Amino acid sequence: MGSTLRAAAFLDKGGTGKTTTVAHLGIALNEHGFDVLLVDLAGKQGDLAKHFGVWDDYQQRIEADAAWPNVSTVFDDAWPTIAEKLGADPLDDLIVATDEGVDLIPAHPGLDTLDSELGNINDARERYSRFEQFLDEYVDPLAYDIVLIDLPGMTNNVSYNGLWAAQNVIVPIEMGPFEAEQADALRRDLDKIATNFATTIELALVLPNKVDTRTTLAEEYLDAFEREYPDAIAADYVPYSQDIRNAAQQGQTAFALTDPSATATQAREAYLAAADLLVKRLQGEIHV
Ligand SMILES: Nc1ncnc2c1ncn2[C@@H]1O[C@H](COP(=O)(O)OP(=O)(O)O)[C@@H](O)[C@H]1O
Ligand SMILES: [Mg+2]
Repeated sequence: MGSTLRAAAFLDKGGTGKTTTVAHLGIALNEHGFDVLLVDLAGKQGDLAKHFGVWDDYQQRIEADAAWPNVSTVFDDAWPTIAEKLGADPLDDLIVATDEGVDLIPAHPGLDTLDSELGNINDARERYSRFEQFLDEYVDPLAYDIVLIDLPGMTNNVSYNGLWAAQNVIVPIEMGPFEAEQADALRRDLDKIATNFATTIELALVLPNKVDTRTTLAEEYLDAFEREYPDAIAADYVPYSQDIRNAAQQGQTAFALTDPSATATQAREAYLAAADLLVKRLQGEIHV
């Protein structure tokens, strides 16, 4: 496919489905035949690794060796030196394979202090572009088709690094007035970044999540989001599905369920279609 595509899931709010979206879009892209790497910058609780049932093992590794290179290490001034010491494949220790076919760089307790550490870097460009440098120099050579980044549900130096590196945002969003305002605020933020830093960060995909169409309110918001984001809105919404919640708790996505419910099946189809749109948007086939 050529160069590695990138996108980051972000909304300045917790619980809208960022982690769920990264996990499921990752598997959907994998089903479409793409090689996928997921990166968890969303916080030390390791939700993305938990979503694939690999967090317990990873935590044991962390406990056994606190100096283990990890996702927070790559932001460090010393990372190039560390990477050199790690040998020919410096990311071997960072990347974990999952049962469902995508690779993953899990979160780490070091993410806890990363925001304030980045805050000590005086030059704004340098402060926000550490992760981009890492992806350019260490991840792109691995020739994944696409890298998806899970970000914290807040605007800080870590989420800015993810947005800066990906330049494309996936916005999982629930149908409600507060959420509509959040999406608006995000769009204003992206405009501000564009003006301040002469860079562009696109709203690549807006994915309505946890939609319950039994309520007319949900329908109204779906219509409103379609009007507001005609190019980025996913063709299908992801319904509220208890199966998704249960699967996550068991360390699986809805794609791994052998006997999926109607809502889980609908969700899978929505993710597959959204993955398709995302790739087209990232490849620039669909212009705004
Ligand atoms: N479509 C859905 N249907 C039902 N539950 C969902 C759905 N999407 C996400 N959830 C659940 O909502 C909670 C928050 O989702 P999560 O992806 O962790 O949000 P975020 O990463 O934005 O904080 C989790 O318990 C998750 O399993
Ligand atoms: Mg999350």
